[in-house]
Amino acid sequence: MYKAPRGTSDILPQEQAYWKYIEEKAAYLCQLYGFQPVATPIFEDSQLFARTISGGTDIVDKEMYIFEDRSGQKLALRAEGTAPVCRAYLEHGLFNLSQPVKLYYIGPAFRYERPQAGRYRQHHQFGVEAIGSADPALDAEVIELAQRFLLSLGLSRFYIHLNSIGCNLCQPNYIEALQHHYSGYRAHLCPDCQTRLLKNPLRLLDCKKASCQKAAETAPKILDFLCPECQSHFQSVQQYLKTLGIPFKLNHRLVRGLDYYTRTVFEVVPQKEGAQSALLGGGRYDNLIEQLGGKPTPAVGFASGIERLILNLKEEKANTPPLPKPVACIAYLGEEAKNEAIKLASELRQAGIAVIKTTGDKSLKGQLRQANSLGTNYAIIIGEREVRAQSAILRDMMNNKQKIVPLSEITAALSQ
Ligand code: HAM
Repeated sequence: MYKAPRGTSDILPQEQAYWKYIEEKAAYLCQLYGFQPVATPIFEDSQLFARTISGGTDIVDKEMYIFEDRSGQKLALRAEGTAPVCRAYLEHGLFNLSQPVKLYYIGPAFRYERPQAGRYRQHHQFGVEAIGSADPALDAEVIELAQRFLLSLGLSRFYIHLNSIGCNLCQPNYIEALQHHYSGYRAHLCPDCQTRLLKNPLRLLDCKKASCQKAAETAPKILDFLCPECQSHFQSVQQYLKTLGIPFKLNHRLVRGLDYYTRTVFEVVPQKEGAQSALLGGGRYDNLIEQLGGKPTPAVGFASGIERLILNLKEEKANTPPLPKPVACIAYLGEEAKNEAIKLASELRQAGIAVIKTTGDKSLKGQLRQANSLGTNYAIIIGEREVRAQSAILRDMMNNKQKIVPLSEITAALSQ
């Protein structure tokens, strides 16, 4: 028997209600905030991710799905959404539009991770990207959208963590201080952090292993190293968040797992925190467009993992509307009745009324049981007698009352 590949899952109908609910809330809010939908391919030139997320990150070093196509081109399954959207922004000259260009997407991302609750090899992201403005008010707006999105889903037990990781001017000084500090602890660091110390020192702060906590607790804080411009940008972001009444926690150890970030970074984590719990994460990436060959173009965005949202919706027992059910179920007995049932089902669907036709090879009792399990409001029963009279029994499944209605009047009766 084949099984879905490890770290992937099938999304069966009973789960689809959550997906539809989340996608509709996301689309509604994006429209309110002026974000337009965009979709990029599932695979890209592998260098797009390797250069932007950068070596030294787990995603690029260990997790990308890379393959060669038949022409020998090296491609990668989409590891995240930001770099592809920036590529599309440049490729289609969206810089000629009024800035910032605000885009959102919903789609799968692929990372070869060790699967566990909330961490998959194929997960789905809802993401937004606002490209073309450095205004700190835009950072606050994007964070407000993130918060409103989670609240509108019915989630409430989360914290917003906020930090600034500076720019090309101030970050190198900080990294030097960080390396100097961690060098004193080198012998005690976990093997990953030994490598990070050389290849990606910022990520040292993010390590959750007990062996690395002592070094992290006493590490220099990036906020003490920000240049005056980054200081003032970060102050403004915080000021605007206060104006909007959005609570946040400053977290000087928040650095994010992708290398393109500059200045503002943020993550939303459930109050009951686990190791892989971020509901969403994002920040500024003011150098990314230039790195991809464009003019210097500041930008900010976030992405949220839909599977993690669903886990949290279930945990918080949030009410999600069920998928719409069919209105009626048509049961019939005999070949002639089947003919009428086929005609009637087609007519009802033409009128926009959702119906299910039972298979008819069961007893009437069996067919009505099927109607009951489908949760339809009505059952329409057609037997030989009804065919002769060109009528049907219309049964209200809620109160078990029934009446005989001419076949030609069923659609009108159900439309009411
Ligand atoms: P990220 O933090 O790598 O950021 O992923 C965004 C969100 O996707 C995470 O907060 C988490 O909810 C979810 N996620 C990530 N990996 C997995 C996984 N293996 N299984 C389940 N869920 C996962 C980005 O991808 C950036 N592109 C976000 C961004 C947009 N920054 C600026 N704009």
